Amino acid sequence: MKTEGAVALVTGGARGLGLEIARHLSGEGATVVVADRNAEALTALSPLLEGCVMDVTDPSQVKSQVAKIIDKHKRIDILVNNAGVITSEPLVNLTNPDGIMHDYGRFRDSLTVNLDSVFIVTSAVVEHMVKLRIRGAIVNISSISACGNEGQTAYSAAKAGVNAMTVTWSKELGRWGIRSNAVAPGFIGTDSTHSAVTETAIKHIRDNTPLRRLGDASEVAAAVRSLIENDFLNGVVLDVNGGLRI
Ligand SMILES: NC(=O)c1ccc[n+]([C@@H]2O[C@H](COP(=O)([O-])OP(=O)(O)OC[C@H]3O[C@@H](n4cnc5c(N)ncnc54)[C@H](O)[C@@H]3O)[C@@H](O)[C@H]2O)c1
Repeated sequence: MKTEGAVALVTGGARGLGLEIARHLSGEGATVVVADRNAEALTALSPLLEGCVMDVTDPSQVKSQVAKIIDKHKRIDILVNNAGVITSEPLVNLTNPDGIMHDYGRFRDSLTVNLDSVFIVTSAVVEHMVKLRIRGAIVNISSISACGNEGQTAYSAAKAGVNAMTVTWSKELGRWGIRSNAVAPGFIGTDSTHSAVTETAIKHIRDNTPLRRLGDASEVAAAVRSLIENDFLNGVVLDVNGGLRI
């Protein structure tokens, strides 16, 4: 599929990796709608990007906002499920005065925003793709944590679920010409990484990455584009991690 001339929906695109992906696709000539729950950040977007207030965990709001995008642009060719929140909590924490075990509410919250959201938005968009006979491309933003990252029970489970849905949809949707792939970034030098991970841990990650550095958001965006543009890639989870294994 050509990015140029396509209509793309990028969730969580008001900042971080999503913003970089949105800019990259727009730079390649796509019409890009950026969906985010952060309405204020959307107002600061470049006029080349179209903002859409959307909480990806709210099925009825997602359905109605997707319908509005289809009304306006007549199609969505590319869906990038990027919205998510990096959460960290070990199963057992002996120093937590409120209880040593992982809080179940926080476990559910992480799954809702990182896993359910991908199902919710994809369901709303694919319904239109199938009805309008659009041979679309879905790219899910997973994570290296899908392998099982120490200290991230819920987030790792959510991203492993994203990988499983990616492969399942590649099989189910291929008959309509809709491809489903994922990018699994390692540690990228974003604000979210610096607030979720201590500087000591970042040094450890750098030292253990064969390329001895964090990734750049532009490298994730380029990987997303390659999955969109290569029409025989389907069911791929593409690691973008400098060779790091966890
Ligand atoms: N930064 C990294 O190193 C890294 C590594 C691996 C995977 N990822 C994944 O990449 C994606 C983007 O991460 P980031 O680092 O850019 O995060 P970020 O926090 O910088 O940006 C996330 C964006 O998603 C939006 N968002 C969050 N919850 C939402 C909701 N319910 N509805 C709508 N929008 C919502 C936020 O408002 C924000 O604009 C996430 O899925 C994350 O798990 C990031």
